[in-house]
Amino acid sequence: QAGVFTYDPGFTSTASCDSTITYIDGELGELLHRGYPIDQLAAKSHYLEVCYLLLYGELPTAKDLEKFETTITRHTMIHEQMHYFFRGFRRDAHPMATMVGVVGAMSAFYHDSTDISDPHQREIASHRLIAKMPTIAAMAYKYSIGQPFMYPRNDLDYAANFLQMCFAVPAETYHVDPILARAMDRIFTLHADHEQNASTSTVRLASSSGANPFACIAAGIACLWGPAHGGANQACLEMLKEIGTPDRIPEFIARAKDKNDPFRLMGFGHRVYKNFDPRATVMKQSADEVLDLLGVENNPILATAKELERAALADDYFAEKKLFPNVDFYSGIILEAMGFPTSMFTPIFAVSRTVGWVSQWKEQLADPQHKIGRPRQLYLGSTARDYVDIENR
Ligand code: SDX
Repeated sequence: QAGVFTYDPGFTSTASCDSTITYIDGELGELLHRGYPIDQLAAKSHYLEVCYLLLYGELPTAKDLEKFETTITRHTMIHEQMHYFFRGFRRDAHPMATMVGVVGAMSAFYHDSTDISDPHQREIASHRLIAKMPTIAAMAYKYSIGQPFMYPRNDLDYAANFLQMCFAVPAETYHVDPILARAMDRIFTLHADHEQNASTSTVRLASSSGANPFACIAAGIACLWGPAHGGANQACLEMLKEIGTPDRIPEFIARAKDKNDPFRLMGFGHRVYKNFDPRATVMKQSADEVLDLLGVENNPILATAKELERAALADDYFAEKKLFPNVDFYSGIILEAMGFPTSMFTPIFAVSRTVGWVSQWKEQLADPQHKIGRPRQLYLGSTARDYVDIENR
């Protein structure tokens, strides 16, 4: 349902949809999930509680939260037949390629939750997607490094379970570091939903055709992979490594300002935020905390990132264009310190954003007015003309 609305500071925009889930004020650098500020949720809540909030609109009672967490925990295994599906990929396939394929294939394994006209099936599909995404991402990682898959464990919480599925091996007992689990959970919380970003809009557009939920989420994963979107966390760390030492920062800032140079500062700028991305602020605090607790507080990459942020924010170009660090600027530093390769950064983003995609998919389907997405265009091509035979061209 296209509409036009105005919001401060008084400029209009064509909205692609109505929504009650997430609100962003780009000028103020504000992000609310069902009215709750992201910094409060990151400090006081945890990912599965935020999932409940995004899905159902209110913070859960203790009883409802326990029921929801038990439901998710008991859906974390995937159909055993799907294990063979991974084996069709080359070992060096990017985990995002594997996730797009495996999540799309879920519609072939979970027939009993693909009928979008049935609210009960929509609910089951929602829980399956949120529960199984960490398992699928961890399996994609294990497959890429030639290690055996680790089954989910019901005695661990969501974030700890993901860490053990990624880093445990059958030959050893794996102890989940609670500090890492808390950092992982906070990263999941910070990436959970973000209004009508490119991948969420992709999910909404796909769902408007009546496609099954697994196909819609697979489309969202494919879109998130792009380096201008969810792929920026991987691209940002690779950029920081290319910069290397702080003395090379002026060279890269000059390149970012050069209109003839396609180089962009990865992790900087945003389509909506023209102030600090509030998630980046929390992520920066988390980077200091996690690296300190991991005993890598003198991480040279973190030092380079902080100097790059300082230099860019002191530069008139970035100030005038209102370019600030976004959620991707510090996340890669934390994830690498936790032991993840850069190829797993965007899959982790996809795990977290699944609840945002699913919540918005449900909202789209619940809207009695929702019509198939059919954007129009401004045609700038040739006017009508007659066919010319090849001998006359
Ligand atoms: C995510 O939508 C979401 O909410 C996405 C996300 C989510 O949670 O889903 O927040 C996650 O995708 C965060 C963004 C991650 N991407 C990156 O970090 C890649 C680097 N950033 C850029 O590619 C860029 O900032 C975009 C794509 C994010 C936004 O680009 P826009 O729309 O061009 O930004 P803008 O209109 O504010 O740009 C103003 C000017 C432009 O120059 P002019 O045309 O005015 O001359 O600033 C320039 C841009 O070219 N610019 C940059 C820049 N980002 C914008 N110049 C150098 N480095 C940058 N990073």
